[in-house]
Amino acid sequence: MARHFLRDDDLTPAEQKQVLALALEMAGDRFAHQPLVGPRTVAIMFDKSSTRTRVSFVTGVAELGGSPMVLEAASSQLGRGESIADTTRVLTRMVSAIVWRTFGQERIAEMAAHATVPVVNALTDEFHPCQVLADLQTIAQHTGGLADGEAALAGRSLAYLGDGANNMAHSYLLGGATAGMHVRIASPATHRPDPGIVADAAAIAQRTGGSVTLTEDPREAVTGATAVITDTWVSMGQEGEDGRGQQTFAPYQVTDELMELSGGIFLHCLPAYRGKEVSSSVIDGPASVVWDEAENRLHAQKALLTWLLTRDDRDDRGEGDEAAAPGGRR
Ligand code: CP
Ligand code: NVA
Repeated sequence: MARHFLRDDDLTPAEQKQVLALALEMAGDRFAHQPLVGPRTVAIMFDKSSTRTRVSFVTGVAELGGSPMVLEAASSQLGRGESIADTTRVLTRMVSAIVWRTFGQERIAEMAAHATVPVVNALTDEFHPCQVLADLQTIAQHTGGLADGEAALAGRSLAYLGDGANNMAHSYLLGGATAGMHVRIASPATHRPDPGIVADAAAIAQRTGGSVTLTEDPREAVTGATAVITDTWVSMGQEGEDGRGQQTFAPYQVTDELMELSGGIFLHCLPAYRGKEVSSSVIDGPASVVWDEAENRLHAQKALLTWLLTRDDRDDRGEGDEAAAPGGRR
């Protein structure tokens, strides 16, 4: 049975740690793991624009010894109305994994239901889990949070400011809680996270020792936070929607004053809009780690693909050798 990565909590806390440890290792030795040698092909599909995701997956698959195949919605039959099920049935006969950036989460869930190879969410309207893996790696790297080669993030605080209802906020909730972090989301009351996702994150946090806090007060959220994070106020597909401007979100702009209250690092998944969700002085200033964060997309996704393609199915049934490191081929 293929394992998929459709949302952040598709990895258990222990599995997330394994992937992050592998990502940290890969950042130090880019060609140490070659699970796609052959080369095996990975389909990388886009229904929305992308720079980082496209470049990091194409580069990453090549560095893993594989062959990356980029498919654009506009030039594939999927974009002309061929069903997701039929597209998946064909791809799954040929490729070793499918990476997809699309709209609703139900679309990628439908793909996974028809796939016999791993399906990876490269951003949907609801989640961006690959980005959060890279962000957790970045926080670990910059806070000295490493113990025995694993990312030790538990107990640290992550404050996200701005559109609390978007894919990044939802992924920080689930991914941060999985890592045992204290996740604080500051947003206007009109743009709060999905209550079902908040409940899922709170349940995970209860098990991992993390926590979830929703507030309208950006100062409360950032005070003492290890990482302060924001994202665009207008996600892909929301262009032209009312209530997405300065009037709604201005208090949530990450400024020098908020960074001083935090004393931590600044992250942004990019693309960034200076003077809107973040001031130039913050994103281009000393607390900003956004370029490391962007690079870590490469390492985190290579680690994820390696883990998905080489893990032992018996681990899911409790039969596997716990000591077996990800890396052995099936
Ligand atoms: N952060 C991110 O996913 O960037 P792209 O939209 O450029 O892929
Ligand atoms: N929330 C943003 C993230 C871009 C990487 C969007 O969906 O457009």
